[in-house]
Amino acid sequence: MATPPDGRRLDPPSSFVEQANVTDESIYEEFERNWPDCWERAAELLEWEEEYEEVLDGSDAPFYEWFRDGKLNASYNCVDRHVEAGRKNHAAIRWEGKLGETHTTTYQDLYRRVNELAATLRELGVDRDDVVTIYLPMIPELPIAMLACARIGAPHSVVFAGFSADALATRMKSADSEYLITCDGYYRRGDAFNQKSKVDNALLDLDASVTTVVVNRLGEALDCVLGDRQYDYRKLIRSQAGATVEPVTRDAEDMLFIMYTSGTTGQPKGVTHSTGGYLAYAAWTTQAVLDVKPEDTYWCSADIGWITGHSYIVYGPLALGTTSVMYEGTPDYPDRSRLWEIVERNAVDVFYTAPTAIRAFMKWGQEYPDQHDLSSLRLLGTVGEPINPRAWKWYYDHIGDEECPIVDTWWQTETGGMMVTTLPGVGTMKPGTAGPPLPGISANVVDTDGNEAEPGESGYLTVDKPWPGMLRTLYRNDERYRSEYWEPFSDPASDEWVYFSGDGARIDDDGYITVLGRVDDVLNVSGHRLGTMEIESAIVGVEGVAEAAVVGGQRGDGETAVYAYVSTEHGYEGDEELRERIVAGVEDTIGPIARPEQVVFTPELPKTRSGKIMRRLLEDIANEEELGDTSALRNPEVVGEIEAVDRER
Ligand code: WT7
Repeated sequence: MATPPDGRRLDPPSSFVEQANVTDESIYEEFERNWPDCWERAAELLEWEEEYEEVLDGSDAPFYEWFRDGKLNASYNCVDRHVEAGRKNHAAIRWEGKLGETHTTTYQDLYRRVNELAATLRELGVDRDDVVTIYLPMIPELPIAMLACARIGAPHSVVFAGFSADALATRMKSADSEYLITCDGYYRRGDAFNQKSKVDNALLDLDASVTTVVVNRLGEALDCVLGDRQYDYRKLIRSQAGATVEPVTRDAEDMLFIMYTSGTTGQPKGVTHSTGGYLAYAAWTTQAVLDVKPEDTYWCSADIGWITGHSYIVYGPLALGTTSVMYEGTPDYPDRSRLWEIVERNAVDVFYTAPTAIRAFMKWGQEYPDQHDLSSLRLLGTVGEPINPRAWKWYYDHIGDEECPIVDTWWQTETGGMMVTTLPGVGTMKPGTAGPPLPGISANVVDTDGNEAEPGESGYLTVDKPWPGMLRTLYRNDERYRSEYWEPFSDPASDEWVYFSGDGARIDDDGYITVLGRVDDVLNVSGHRLGTMEIESAIVGVEGVAEAAVVGGQRGDGETAVYAYVSTEHGYEGDEELRERIVAGVEDTIGPIARPEQVVFTPELPKTRSGKIMRRLLEDIANEEELGDTSALRNPEVVGEIEAVDRER
């Protein structure tokens, strides 16, 4: 067998294997032989009001339908059935607040709160299929709001709380969303941030009249001015005390939610997920990959504002009836032991985080985890970007004490759930390599023509069979769904559809896939997905800017950051004042996560003869790499000029 890049491979400890949810490697073969019916295994984790007629309907591919004609409700599956099964006093959510507060929501509490909010939303006029936007930080009202929407059949669109007013308005407009659940403000580190003023700015931008519910996070009582159609969450709920709402029967294919994500154009994409297939897939992967049991305390440290939190803080864990930890804060506030203190105090069994966090822990040193008893941990996971073997090993040694398998899970907003990873009770781990595709998942690495790449060669990561958790379309944009994901690698003559992930990858002789990163104009900054075009259009919106190109730059510490190359309009100087206005422009249009760390002013941007900006070349300049072929440039002389100013930064 081939050895991993650093020569190490590890098998899961037998103590883990003995208790794992999946231990038999024949599952791979079984799923292949029995595809697509193998996915009934996922559907069986849910309670259906009516059985589905067909596992997969591919008659209108690539618009696939899973569990056709099946009926269910996601909120019923995540809440009611656990109460009915006698687990009403079991903790559903253990919330850890930023200021050190803690709060446990049992399944019974969750039932009551979801019902009261569902009744409230109904009262406000929310009907099935109305899109409700949720713009909340990591407080219990966020999953409660998602489940309340699911209960009444209203798709939710959660917008990350750190996004700007503009970004919120764009997403609400695109979804024609007339309902918004938000809050007065929230804490970041020790400081209070005003969320409501961002909301009011966003609402000024919208033509439609929006009904807004405002949760109180900051003070004893809600302390902000409520305008027309704006309501105090607590008051509304109080008038629905004890109300119950029958879960609305949803078709398996009915939309559960929209999640906006960045693509290669300036417009974010509304990825839509279904009720049956998505929920089944989230539950199945939580069980098979994260090895979650109902009696576990499980913690995913992501934000629910992204897909990771949707699938692996809310829907997957709650569908399985486990205890999901929800943390409002950052890893280093009030100190660098914060996460380990939470693991110890809650006796967390399974911990799922991102490589960027692991690299930060590594930088801070092992003294912080060493101060805490982490022996409750059984399994560790990572997601969001490639993890290098050194960080992997550090996580394995210092957090897992060499006793916990690590699952390096590759997936995307679009895939709904994990796609490529080892099964922790089955597979050998190779640090730095995500692993083989999950059972039933037909992921491949192919060359530009779509032929399978040789082991060791880089290619494109594709998936040539559908799966239950896949996106169903882009909201109101079937055409873009088809052209971005399916057309690049499908052969129009045959009826075989191949999904393109946008990632580059390499496969080894054992079929293990190493994900290399995006091959399109999408950046991965600290595990957050950002579109270069979105940031560029924000920069070009700043007075005095003529053109902008954004690339991912490698910082000295190995992290990727946003670097912007900007040319100014005649009469404007590329000075400190303009630099500040550019940074502010990006923060206002998108949010602080997209803040350019470097702004390099240049007389011109490198362009091809057809006028396309050559971002790749700028990326090479930013990262001081050997420059690729510049012969296709219309203006090759600018390269030297950019290199000269770049050296000064
Ligand atoms: C992109 C998707 C899905 C949850 C988080 C982000 C990168 C994700 C891995 C991994 C290497 C990874 C890919 C992918 N990515 N997981 N284990 N190894 N890269 O979701 O915002 O939709 O971003 O994250 O580049 O395309 P997202």
